[in-house]
Amino acid sequence: MLPKVELHLHLEGAAPPAFVRGLAAEKKMDISGIFDERGYYKYKDFWDFLKVYEAATATLQTPEDYRRLTRAVLEESAASGVIYSETFLSPDFCGGRDVGAWREYLHAIREAAEEAERQDGITLRGIVTPIRHFGPEKARETAICAAETAGDWIVGFGLAGDEKIGKPKDFAWSFDAAREAGLRLTCHAGEWGGPESVRDAIRDLEVERIGHGVRAIEDLALVDEIAERGVVLEVCPGSNVALGLYPSFRAHPVHKLRERGVTVTVSTDDPPFFHTTMEREYAELAGAFDWDDGVFQGIAMTSARAAFADAGTREKILKRLEKAYA
Ligand code: ADE
Ligand code: ZN
Repeated sequence: MLPKVELHLHLEGAAPPAFVRGLAAEKKMDISGIFDERGYYKYKDFWDFLKVYEAATATLQTPEDYRRLTRAVLEESAASGVIYSETFLSPDFCGGRDVGAWREYLHAIREAAEEAERQDGITLRGIVTPIRHFGPEKARETAICAAETAGDWIVGFGLAGDEKIGKPKDFAWSFDAAREAGLRLTCHAGEWGGPESVRDAIRDLEVERIGHGVRAIEDLALVDEIAERGVVLEVCPGSNVALGLYPSFRAHPVHKLRERGVTVTVSTDDPPFFHTTMEREYAELAGAFDWDDGVFQGIAMTSARAAFADAGTREKILKRLEKAYA
């Protein structure tokens, strides 16, 4: 199994359904409506997915819940060959944007990550991520949580949620605060918004990575600009197919983007929601585009170089990849 690097993973979105059902039972919460008859998450479209996501997240109420979640998620990632991962964390869900509470959640998440590093050899770092449809005011509070905890473990700042609501520049204050605190920047764009949404995120937020960004393909001048500037796309093909953005892996633009010189990486986004794993993403891409091990090794190395972790951590991950490929 090839060692892998994942840059785009939502921690709550990676919660196994059985884990969430367990938490709901402990708390006597009835969330049976978010599951189908086989026990998988059930949703109609992206906007319904966001509702189901938030309903599942409502079962996560304490730092201890997040500790258990982190351990469960990293076990799954490590089983797929992931050796380094970055996860989106939202103080909106972890302590209601209160800095003191957020620190407690973060402490529990980090402890679980350190245990996974010792036991499963997987390294995790965090990207603080406000939720776009919660609005720019809440994003400011989230940015303050991010700035207060920026350092060797919280290494980035992002923006997730409903891309149809508001504009990237509404969040410029938050991204400026995060940048000043030393955080590296990414933003979901070009998933439900078109190329202009990607252009706005690059221009107005000065991000170095884009979450998804795949709809840049609808404007080749933009694709060339992304390639030239070295903006990295966190591409999640299985997510895009599951949510109906593209009918199949073969119809997904990741191959074309790569051929045209864009730096693409591969991630799962919210794996159990989309019935995927990093193993499955690699297998589907290999089948759809005839990508061989060399392509995937290149993507893993590219992903390690684009990681927001400090140079020493990046170097260690690169060395592990080189050794595995030798
Ligand atoms: N939050 C979790 N998954 C997401 C996605 N694919 N797009 C936007 N926000 C999200
Ligand atoms: Zn995402």
